[in-house]
Amino acid sequence: MHIPSLSTTSFTLLLATFSLASAKVVTLSWEEAYSKAEILVRQMSLEQKVTITTGTGWGGICSGSTNCTSNPDFPSLCLQDSPLGVRSTYNVTSGVSAINAAASFDKQAIRARGDYMGKEFRGKGVHIQLGPTMNYMRSPLGGRAWESGGEDPYLMVVLSAETVKGGQDNDVICSVKHFLLNEQELNRMNSSTEADSRTMHEIYLWPFVRCVEAGVGSVMCSYNEIDGTYACENDYILNTVLKGELGFKGFVMSDWGATQSTIASVNGGLDMTMPTPEYFGKNLTDAVNANKVSEERATDMTMRIVAAWYKVRQDIDSPAVAINSVDQDKAPYVNVQEDHHKLVREMGAASNVLLKNVKNTFPINPKNLKKVAIIGSDSAVDPRTFNCDMRACTSTHLAQGWGFGTVSFPYLIDPLTGLKDAFGEGVVVQSSLSDWDLEAAKDTDYAFVFANANSGEEIQFIGDTAGDRNNLSLWNNGDNLIKAVADANKNTIVVIHSVGPVLMPWADHPNIKAILWPGLAGQKSGNSLADIVTGKVNPSGRLPYTIAKQEQDHSAGISKEAVIVYEEKLLMEYKWFDHAKIEPLFPFGYGLSYTKFNYSKLEVKATTSLDKDNKKDAIVEASISIRNGGPVEGAEIVQAYLSFPNSAGSPPKQLRGFEKIFLEKGERGIVDFKLEKTELSIWDTKPESWVIPSGQFKLHIGASSRDIRKVAKFTL
Ligand SMILES: *[C@@H]1O[C@H](CO)[C@@H](O)[C@H](O)[C@H]1NC(C)=O
Ligand SMILES: *[C@@H]1O[C@H](CO)[C@@H](O)[C@H](O)[C@H]1NC(C)=O
Ligand SMILES: *[C@@H]1O[C@H](CO)[C@@H](O)[C@H](O)[C@H]1NC(C)=O
Ligand SMILES: *[C@@H]1O[C@H](CO)[C@@H](O)[C@H](O)[C@H]1NC(C)=O
Ligand SMILES: *[C@@H]1O[C@H](CO)[C@@H](O)[C@H](O)[C@H]1NC(C)=O
Ligand SMILES: *[C@@H]1O[C@H](CO)[C@@H](O)[C@H](O)[C@H]1NC(C)=O
Repeated sequence: MHIPSLSTTSFTLLLATFSLASAKVVTLSWEEAYSKAEILVRQMSLEQKVTITTGTGWGGICSGSTNCTSNPDFPSLCLQDSPLGVRSTYNVTSGVSAINAAASFDKQAIRARGDYMGKEFRGKGVHIQLGPTMNYMRSPLGGRAWESGGEDPYLMVVLSAETVKGGQDNDVICSVKHFLLNEQELNRMNSSTEADSRTMHEIYLWPFVRCVEAGVGSVMCSYNEIDGTYACENDYILNTVLKGELGFKGFVMSDWGATQSTIASVNGGLDMTMPTPEYFGKNLTDAVNANKVSEERATDMTMRIVAAWYKVRQDIDSPAVAINSVDQDKAPYVNVQEDHHKLVREMGAASNVLLKNVKNTFPINPKNLKKVAIIGSDSAVDPRTFNCDMRACTSTHLAQGWGFGTVSFPYLIDPLTGLKDAFGEGVVVQSSLSDWDLEAAKDTDYAFVFANANSGEEIQFIGDTAGDRNNLSLWNNGDNLIKAVADANKNTIVVIHSVGPVLMPWADHPNIKAILWPGLAGQKSGNSLADIVTGKVNPSGRLPYTIAKQEQDHSAGISKEAVIVYEEKLLMEYKWFDHAKIEPLFPFGYGLSYTKFNYSKLEVKATTSLDKDNKKDAIVEASISIRNGGPVEGAEIVQAYLSFPNSAGSPPKQLRGFEKIFLEKGERGIVDFKLEKTELSIWDTKPESWVIPSGQFKLHIGASSRDIRKVAKFTL
């Protein structure tokens, strides 16, 4: 059997095509951007400067806008959702969610996704993409966790920094969010979060640090308070940490309606308020005239915005705004989809995690099939509702969560369509969209049973789920349906479309021969699924979160308190499971393949030196040989976890590298890892700084956080 797989090579080619087609102009350094901005801003009156920092109101053609100035001229800026693509408009791509991008563990694919999104935003005349999101799946119940990269900082860094590079290379300013400590929907407007300095730095700030290094133009402050002060007027968080410690040169914008004051916000570090002028505009001008806010500060706010605009060369390349969030039908027709659906299909397959595959049930050769059952409301779309307002009514096939973080589907290929198409005319498909009736499951070669679990942003709810999930159970009678189908058919295949972990009390049922976990796969969902089922693509998706045996095993839930304390500190999810020696159902980083990979010859070289401040610096280079020892070609996700010396007080092990390597059957390849100060440091609180701890480290190389194949020790 020959399985043509999704190879790293195909992504390289794809990426090259995207880059060549899109890299019209080269972004500027902050220094160059500031010198251009200085020339413009010094000609502006105070009123003009304030205009550039002030939203024009709710209900405009973009999610948010600023007004233009003339003489000197600066355009009105269009700010638009979402981290998944251009919201509130037609003729755009609606691809895999960020949680799926993370599950691909594929840097090049993640970059290519950022790239096409940037291209689509810019093509529609949008100046600022509201994304990517970098809040964590601290609790698997978190309503918006699917908009982001899961539970691990290193994976979050790759996801967010590559997305920012892809977007800004296409001249759109990215606004990374939500800054900071905004990991749940419940009480997000009226709760205060507390995390100690080390936890804040090593987990929650880390992706922001790396995005600042990647040149991100904007940061969005969150709704919540941090230690009792709103994030958008938090002098410590915005001025001391973000602009001071991290050296952020771009602008801070408020989340929609998150600004709570004029003087405290502006002096606290907020540079742009969205979406209404309420606290800025004339009130800000008055505050400057009354010496409550310095004119230097007003100039600084404006400089930051104008410099970000120059940095991504929007002064050269400025397509007209071609969206209309008020009435989508009134937007000028601009189709930006190009062939981005190809990447969506590839990433849908590359992020599909194969959790169980008894006796090589998968891949299935359609030639050997006569009759299959496809059961469950998640297996097909309801054409009346699949594109409903902010997706807050999807009870049929799930391919994205709900809220402002969504994008309209140009179409949605559901599993029923995708599988029928791949199986061909010769195969009889018994379809049942009922979640209660298992009649269709009987007397077929295989019974595919579908179920889902949804969540979203707290602005809308489905039933009694008001954003965060209430529990980890499947929706729509899913558990009972799966058990009943498995009792009725000895070749049952379970497919779960979910925003995050669910409980799987049926996982060990002897008739359940395979479990597939496609996540939120976007517009080509059914095609991507079929590519895995039939073996057109050998699965290499890995879980970006931990699936536990029971809800109380997880390291955190949703807090109902007014003060939310991140008590688990550094021990978020898999680190907690490692620490407390809890066996997960499926661990972080887990996923099966149709082939087998062998790991050998781990070599590690550690070199220490002194940096310019006479502090310890180090580079650790590791290489491992991987051989495809199985029956078919495929890609392996080689993961590197680091244990710090005991004295560091760190979690048992933490992801510090991963690579996707494609190998032909029998082929051998070398994977290299390079860990530098960034990966080797902890946040020391006395004094507050990043330091490389002294002592013995361990590097664990493996196929998941619980499948370590080789370990090497080194001393720094
Ligand atoms: C934008 O500025 C112009 C000129 O100052 C003004 O007439 C217009 O009302 C402003 N628009 C909004 C939406 O604030
Ligand atoms: C553009 O979007 C509209 C509205 O959904 C649709 O009718 C039209 O077919 C789309 N055009 C293309 C080329 O996809
Ligand atoms: C803005 O100023 C106006 C008067 O100029 C005042 O009525 C209003 O309350 C102020 N808004 C806020 C949010 O402070
Ligand atoms: C889980 O939450 C859903 C939605 O609120 C509810 O309908 C269901 O009864 C809950 N299930 C369990 C097992 O608590
Ligand atoms: C926050 O506001 C909501 C809605 O107004 C209210 O139900 C809740 O009790 C408040 N929570 C806290 C912690 O103050
Ligand atoms: C390769 O790895 C598999 C497990 O993935 C193991 O069963 C097999 O013995 C290994 N083969 C060699 C040659 O090391």
